[in-house]
Amino acid sequence: VVLVIDFGGQYNQLITRRVRELSIYSELVSYKTSIEKIKEINPKGIILSGGPASIYGENAPKCDPEILNLGIPVLGICYGMQFINDNFGGKVERAEKREYGKATAKVNTKDLFFKGLDESQQVLMSHGDYITSIPEGFESISNTPHAPYAAFANQDKKIYGVQFHPEVKLTVNGQSMLKNFLLNICKCNTDWTMGSFIEEQIALIKKQVGDKKVICGLSGGVDSSVAAVLVHKAIGDQLTCIYVDHGFMRKNESEEVKETFIGKFGMNLDFVDAEERFLSKLAGITEPEEKRKIIGEQFIRVFEEEASKFGDSEFLVQGTLYPDIVESGTDTAAVIKSHHNVGGLPEDMKFELIEPLKNLYKDEVREVGKELGLPEAIVQRQPFPGPGLAIRIIGDLTKEKLDILRDADAIIRHEISSADLEETVWQYFGVLPTIKSVGVMGDERTYAYPIVLRAVTSEDAMTADWARLPYELLEKISNRIVNEVNHVNRVVYDITPKPPGTIEWE
Ligand code: XMP
Repeated sequence: VVLVIDFGGQYNQLITRRVRELSIYSELVSYKTSIEKIKEINPKGIILSGGPASIYGENAPKCDPEILNLGIPVLGICYGMQFINDNFGGKVERAEKREYGKATAKVNTKDLFFKGLDESQQVLMSHGDYITSIPEGFESISNTPHAPYAAFANQDKKIYGVQFHPEVKLTVNGQSMLKNFLLNICKCNTDWTMGSFIEEQIALIKKQVGDKKVICGLSGGVDSSVAAVLVHKAIGDQLTCIYVDHGFMRKNESEEVKETFIGKFGMNLDFVDAEERFLSKLAGITEPEEKRKIIGEQFIRVFEEEASKFGDSEFLVQGTLYPDIVESGTDTAAVIKSHHNVGGLPEDMKFELIEPLKNLYKDEVREVGKELGLPEAIVQRQPFPGPGLAIRIIGDLTKEKLDILRDADAIIRHEISSADLEETVWQYFGVLPTIKSVGVMGDERTYAYPIVLRAVTSEDAMTADWARLPYELLEKISNRIVNEVNHVNRVVYDITPKPPGTIEWE
């Protein structure tokens, strides 16, 4: 494993991604992680991430400096490099002008870190402080017109630093540099595959669970489906899946779930129709975070009630993914939204959690799903938030609004899949804002809801862009919705990327 120490930089998750793309397992951990814990993990390499702080700032995050004396190769990126520099007695100064953007770096190709590359490299710089002197034992292995120490190395200690960001594509050969560090300096093995991940998880789940009973909240989405099948593979009939129909599912979704999990996989599946309960708890609630908290809490309450029917279940499986955890707030990441399967859990919850996917990104979960033999239709299914259509209706919820949105959403899904764009577009759906506008239909004035069409491309939902759908397709979707869905007289297209928007509207 390669540990990435998180100092709060915006590209930190990308670093773990890049490492894993080389078939080397990598995890992002807080800068507060204790040195004992790090020794116990015994990583092959450590990467100190970038971060927004200044190393001399009052609240500058600092990890235990012992990390630099473990004999484990270390690479510091941006702030991480400055941390190393400061620790060994070098100097960092505030630059008069912030350096942000592409720069051309001269690199020393005799150093292992730049092995096989040309002497001139395009790199992405993004920093306000720069290094003005480096410690003894270190040598500069790269410079740019503005930075005399764009990279340094201490070959004896196997400690490296780069002022630029090798993890982003704007550093054209950044991946080769990371590869050099990981293979030539850390001597990592490239043996991390989804097959090995599954084996490892199955062993862990068996050990965690023993002969106890487990329940799983199945929503039919990629995450919970993969988690359920993985756990089922580990412990078979000890697992019961509970499907809570909160009334916020898409059209026909409940039927499809039955067919797949009972029909195809022969799993224990308990069906709960809780629509009325959720609607009554949410009546009149408009504040998005409040909605999410109520839904999250009710979900667990329904679970507990159902679980009591299955005797002594002590564990709960959740398809929590890595981005869910990051966005719900870590030591360095600000809370953006509380995803209902993390932040909204009631504190007196009495299950122990099994979250086998919590270190994976979405595309990695899809790989695991394929490896487990899940049908393509599920593996490639677009993500659907736990609170479902409830967070796609802005304002208070009613059964009528849900039915309107469900019908419009079914049209959107049908048309995008008919246009064969399911795999190019990450997520596509309708949003029903509770406003009305005037229109005219067959000589008559209408006063009805708009449907907002949201379609985005993304790799991992951390960032997204609006999908450039063909005009003909937009026209068809708009025509069909306005003609076929009652109480809708207008369709608009959301053209906001994430950031600054989020994918969902609440
Ligand atoms: P945002 O709206 O934050 O969404 O850009 C990022 C991704 O997460 C999905 N999402 C959720 N998934 N529970 C989930 O399981 C939730 O509460 C939740 N909220 C958002 C969203 O659909 C998108 O794919």
